Amino acid sequence: MNKKNCFNYEFIKFTKNKFYNFKRKQILGILNKNLILEAYKSISRWKDYKPTPLIKLNKLSDHLKVNNVFYKDESKRFNLKSFKALGGAYAVQKISKGKKNLIVSTATAGNHGKSVAWGAKKIGIKCKIFISSNVSNDRSKAMKKLGADVIRIKGNYDSSLEECKKISKRYGWKIIQDVAWKNYELVPKLTMAGYSLIIKEISSQTNHYITHVFLQAGVGGMAAGLVAGIAKYFKRIPKIIIVEPENANCVMQSLNKGFIKKIRVRRESILQGMSCGEVSLVPWKILKNSVNNCVSISDRYVPKTIAMLAKKKLSKKKIIGGECSTPGIISLIGCYNNDSAKKELGINRNSNILLIGCEGDTDPYIYKKLLKIGEKKIF
Ligand SMILES: Cc1ncc(COP(=O)(O)O)c(C=O)c1O
Repeated sequence: MNKKNCFNYEFIKFTKNKFYNFKRKQILGILNKNLILEAYKSISRWKDYKPTPLIKLNKLSDHLKVNNVFYKDESKRFNLKSFKALGGAYAVQKISKGKKNLIVSTATAGNHGKSVAWGAKKIGIKCKIFISSNVSNDRSKAMKKLGADVIRIKGNYDSSLEECKKISKRYGWKIIQDVAWKNYELVPKLTMAGYSLIIKEISSQTNHYITHVFLQAGVGGMAAGLVAGIAKYFKRIPKIIIVEPENANCVMQSLNKGFIKKIRVRRESILQGMSCGEVSLVPWKILKNSVNNCVSISDRYVPKTIAMLAKKKLSKKKIIGGECSTPGIISLIGCYNNDSAKKELGINRNSNILLIGCEGDTDPYIYKKLLKIGEKKIF
């Protein structure tokens, strides 16, 4: 890769959703607008609540010759440093309904579990968290620090979820999961309603109409929560582009088929939390007709992008963005560099593009390691 040119990224795949048919009413029928309004009302009353910054990536917008590139900096979300703080913790609050003898449980890749643990701690109830062997020790320690009992099991995320379901059933623990399955939709809907607050904040942080939004997806909860927020709060509907790791492009593959397609993740991505093989049920219902395009990306540009954020190559101010904060930037540059994708998306001088900086240094050890690798590529 050419060191001098920071903007020479390419995507792996770019596809168009032939099922696109955005209907506000339909979306707000799936994630009810009252759930969205209630989530904002509750969360905005939490102690220390303040909107996270909407930062202009002015150096990137200059390079791309677009009007604005906005970056929603979720590293500043409470002290949990990720958007997940809005989901799990809010669901714990709603489900517990003030009962002090309830025990909540969840399976997690890290950030969701931290949110559930934090939510349980805030209201003084016990919390059990199941993690797989892929979850780092630092992430496990962070959840223990919040008072959770952390149970590590062999296997991957799916195995940790199976164990969580089995043990929780045995002991009567209430599962607070961000993925939906048959007859388990309320909790994931509450987490998505929590995430939709991000769009409410953005709608009062800029007067520009957003023309394009790039949304990272793992199982699709964040993306669908934000799409529902767009349906509720934005006057004009932007082009919605889903971004996934090349080896975990389950939304892209499902949209290509028109039904949920489970894929085998052959190589785990360094985009922890986005390395998922199956789109969740409720997000699917929303994403199926609301997404314009999908992009899949390689891990190779992640360290360099982390370094560009930290070393002010994209904006005036330093930004601490963890690995999952980079896919929006990587895919936007990739689309800009590809004539047919650029044309299809209509990226031009009038574009106001929104990217989601999902997390900060949620795992400081991994962040520092990736930053160091990335720095070598920009200097
Ligand atoms: C840290 C992190 N974890 C997980 C995800 C995936 O979220 P979801 O599984 O709701 O799509 C993202 C963003 O897409 C993320 O930034």
